[in-house]
Amino acid sequence: MQDRVRVRDALRAPADGRRITVAGWVRTKRAGKSVSFLEINDGSCLSNIQATIDGADRELAAAVEPVSTGASVVVTGTLVESPGQNQAVEIAATGLVLVGPSPGDEYPLQKKRHSFEYLREIAHLRPRTNTFGAIARVRNHISFAIHRFFNERGFLYVHTPIITASDAEGAGELFQVTTLELEKLPGSSSPQVDYGRDFFGRPAFLTVSGQLNAEIYATAMDRVYTFGPTFRAENSNTTRHLAEFWMIEPEVSFCDIHGNMDLAEEFLKVLIRGLLAECEEDMAFFDQRIEKGLVESLRSVAESDFNRITYTEAVEALTNSGASFEYPVSWGRDLQSEHEKFLTEEIYRGPVIVTDYPRDIKAFYMKQNDDGRTVRGMDVLVPRLGEIIGGSQREENLDALEARIVELGLERDDYWWYLELRRFGTVPHSGFGLGFERFIQYCTGMQNIRDVIPFPRTPGNAAF
Ligand code: 4AD
Ligand code: MG
Repeated sequence: MQDRVRVRDALRAPADGRRITVAGWVRTKRAGKSVSFLEINDGSCLSNIQATIDGADRELAAAVEPVSTGASVVVTGTLVESPGQNQAVEIAATGLVLVGPSPGDEYPLQKKRHSFEYLREIAHLRPRTNTFGAIARVRNHISFAIHRFFNERGFLYVHTPIITASDAEGAGELFQVTTLELEKLPGSSSPQVDYGRDFFGRPAFLTVSGQLNAEIYATAMDRVYTFGPTFRAENSNTTRHLAEFWMIEPEVSFCDIHGNMDLAEEFLKVLIRGLLAECEEDMAFFDQRIEKGLVESLRSVAESDFNRITYTEAVEALTNSGASFEYPVSWGRDLQSEHEKFLTEEIYRGPVIVTDYPRDIKAFYMKQNDDGRTVRGMDVLVPRLGEIIGGSQREENLDALEARIVELGLERDDYWWYLELRRFGTVPHSGFGLGFERFIQYCTGMQNIRDVIPFPRTPGNAAF
């Protein structure tokens, strides 16, 4: 295996008759008397490399005989110019090893197009398809680009915990973590659970957001970010909700809502530009097969200014549009995804940042405006999806924050350390959270969020 070449590099090499070895999985086999063809993919790029097997070579012909779709093979040969239309080079095989056979007619991935619903049921094999291979590479590229973006701007990467005792959003969508034997709890009456005997000696949960912990580090290190899995027990069976998703959350001291919007806009644009430049083949595939015009629309998003409006202006624009919605629009109600789509697709025709939402529909930590009824929250909305970023300037005033926690009926004691950040050297600070899978959906055109994460977790589904 030592001098094995990845398919991606083999396809870029000159057809100079060099000897090479590739290894991968057979996507298709065409068997002929005089020559047989294998299309081999190793995940390094979308394209397969074609290997030609000369039927006159008895030994080779015998070796290729039992090879079928899905099998793993190692092919050695010379890299030559391909007479075929689809590729510049191919391998004229001189040796072939069938590493892992595959009963071709039982292989769940046949040459026809499979529905995404079907592929979700075979999540252990779907990375071997063009679409899921491309998604895996795009996810990988963007993950690295995110770290690069923050690293180049002096942000410190903080590892926030996955198990936590506090509800960062105060919305009660928590998965509980316990070592108590719940099945031994009497089912009929509601028992008094003795948390003193639980693992952490108190109720504990999977985090819904790393924000509160990121704030701790931002008020010491100035600018930080976290990038990790987050969990929400919201019973939303939609194409944009997961129970387990990844979130990127920067947090910046001495920064107000305007600086926060600037950062979010620059962040998205830099990521999109990098993606278009560095994942050209995969992006061309999404453009052709998943969402027509995708590349052009992303390019124009990366080049133009995002619209910035207040929630009040958004409500006015929606009301004045005369459009009819399933959910009514009125000041004080949260924007539904149909409203977010209408704003971005019909009215502004591009991304929109909405700020200054009513305080009653936003989280307890958002900075309250002087009007007494709105907060300095911001959502970044995009066409096709609606919200991909939620963020805010944080309430840095101790009294105002404490009053809000009490007013909302949250446990003050759960947030004692969060309040102390406001007692000792408080500072205006802001941050936001980008839903990683929503962003991948946006960049690839994939309609269902379950298809942009390797192993989706949704209500009633934790297979694989
Ligand atoms: O708007 P959210 O709830 O904001 C926060 O969690 C803040 N603590 C972030 C911060 O300011 N540091 O979530 C942020 C983003 C949403 O805009 C959305 O893109 C994504 O996370 N998101 C989900 N993605 C997939 N499935 C879900 N159930 C999601 N819930 C939120
Ligand atoms: Mg939100």
